[in-house]
Amino acid sequence: KPRRPIVAGNWKLNPSTRAEAITLLKLLAANFLNNRNTNQSADTPETVIFPPLPYLSDAVEILEGTGIQVGAQDVGPNEKGAFTGEVAPSMLVSAGCSYVLLGHSERRTLFGETDEEINAKLHKSLEQPSLKVILCVGETLQEYENGLLESVVDSQIRKGLDGVDPAVLMNDRVIIAYEPVWAIGTGLVATPAQAQHAHVAIRNSLANMYDTEVAGSVRIQYGGSVTADSTEELMGENDVDGALVGGASLNADSFTRIYDGAT
Ligand code: G3H
Repeated sequence: KPRRPIVAGNWKLNPSTRAEAITLLKLLAANFLNNRNTNQSADTPETVIFPPLPYLSDAVEILEGTGIQVGAQDVGPNEKGAFTGEVAPSMLVSAGCSYVLLGHSERRTLFGETDEEINAKLHKSLEQPSLKVILCVGETLQEYENGLLESVVDSQIRKGLDGVDPAVLMNDRVIIAYEPVWAIGTGLVATPAQAQHAHVAIRNSLANMYDTEVAGSVRIQYGGSVTADSTEELMGENDVDGALVGGASLNADSFTRIYDGAT
């Protein structure tokens, strides 16, 4: 593969207690410490998990030396001050995070996040030299059925990346996650051919916005009901560079098997 694979686990609003989170983190650490060499070479997938904010420090501490990186599921667009309830990208960095997820469809649909807000968060995040962004895009079932996949992801890419310098993309600071809304948490995983088709559409958008060199350098993950059973086939597609895993990332062994399937 021309691009290094990336496997990420989005825990969403799980698990309910810190004790359960610590148990899951320790199981993950055990799996990765002894048998895997993630992040040690370009041949192995880069690996990231996105726990809820209160568990980030535990994750950073427990996963030290495993190669698994830690990120937050969202961040605010402000640096500091009177913004009650907000978190700044610099705070994530100082807590040991190296990634932030932006524009997840649940943020867009349940919390009304707009492309403009996502773009502001993205720019603020990129001010932190050690922080990388996973920008999520994807169409709803209705949009899919109406043949709008290409135009929806094109608009999300253009608006989400508005004002982002090509060098930022060439430097691997932004990863795109293609997550068709109809596949998220439904058990209805896209076929490898469907994923490949959408990833090519995203790469075309990037090529139109920048150029083919930039488009070819950006990693695009697939997300939506990925399991250990579907990973290898999805990863067999030319333009599928990784997986963004929700439900199956809450079990250490299934997340580990997904990593193995992407290796
Ligand atoms: O961010 C992860 C995705 O929304 C996929 O979730 O694997 O539970 O379908 P899922």
